Amino acid sequence: MPKFRENIKKMEAYKPPLEGRSRGDYLLLDFNERTIKPSPKVKEALKKFVDSGRLQVYPEYGDLEEKIAQYAEVSSEQAIVTNGGDQGIDIICRAHISEGDKVIIPSPGFAMHYQSVSIQGAEILEPSYNEKDGSFPFRDVLNLTANEDRIGLIILCNPNNPLGSSIPIENVEKILNKASEKQIPVLHDEAYFEFSGLTAKDLINNYDNLYIVRTFSKAFGLVATRVGYVISQEQNLQELLKIRGPYDVNMFAKTAVLAALEDINYVKDYVREVMQESKPKLEQFLREKGIAFFPSAANFLFLKVSEPEKIIENLKGQGILVRPKKGPGNKNGVRIAIGTLEDTDKFISAFNKVLNI
Ligand SMILES: Cc1ncc(COP(=O)(O)O)c(C=O)c1O
Repeated sequence: MPKFRENIKKMEAYKPPLEGRSRGDYLLLDFNERTIKPSPKVKEALKKFVDSGRLQVYPEYGDLEEKIAQYAEVSSEQAIVTNGGDQGIDIICRAHISEGDKVIIPSPGFAMHYQSVSIQGAEILEPSYNEKDGSFPFRDVLNLTANEDRIGLIILCNPNNPLGSSIPIENVEKILNKASEKQIPVLHDEAYFEFSGLTAKDLINNYDNLYIVRTFSKAFGLVATRVGYVISQEQNLQELLKIRGPYDVNMFAKTAVLAALEDINYVKDYVREVMQESKPKLEQFLREKGIAFFPSAANFLFLKVSEPEKIIENLKGQGILVRPKKGPGNKNGVRIAIGTLEDTDKFISAFNKVLNI
């Protein structure tokens, strides 16, 4: 066996439970995806691209990044496109974290944050979200930022995946402030921005240590094409571009995103249905049934249940996939994505059967 870096040998691959998902007849509430198809304009544009006969030509992004920047309401040099939000996270980690550095990831966190940080050989400091109400450990993060040395990066997942809890932007700014005194970069993960409306983008011009990661995988429903973007000050993005390859985002992805951005109401209508109709309905149902969950700013809920496997298996038998997740203090839970009203009605009726067993 050739020599591997020690920290890679200690890691495990992230293997999310994908089996059976492509079967086509499950209601997929397990990956926080959009539950219905993206805009029909995306399909049309992709067909046109295939018909253009240019598959043999290297990708060319044209005004893609400018269009993304316009959508994100930042200036055109403040956004770069990436191969999913995951690549954004990865290139930020690769640019900033050296072996032996410490990285703050409030726990629980998103799996790919841990992967990308561990690849760099960093030690992970994990202040815990509150076990009772799922709130963000603001004081702990601030204290670690002030008192620990060799902090290579702070990751703020806002809203948090898997909990859905949010961090008020004033508190994000306080952390940015403290971190900037020590030139520590802060990654503000806004994967669920369209649902939460929470963003730190207005702080970009004031904080040269801020990175925002976003994705077209969730509200836009383009996860199969793998596109995300990073927002930051221009000089930071120029450094990241030394790591992101010139063709890492493929032409299907580019074509899909440009078409989806032309039909933004399609995204807004879905977000409105999920957040203003489905979510309140599901929350009311759970309250009535006495099932505890954390307040969520995202298109998913974390249910605090002691025996998640039973619920998950039963729902699977009824054609619905949801996901086991660990909450603060390593406590068991189930994370369920919220889709259309029709999906929510289906979920409620299936969950009623689970409860009646
Ligand atoms: C918190 C968070 N960040 C980033 C991502 C990355 O998404 P993608 O790589 O599909 O763009 C996800 C996806 O689940 C996520 O939940």
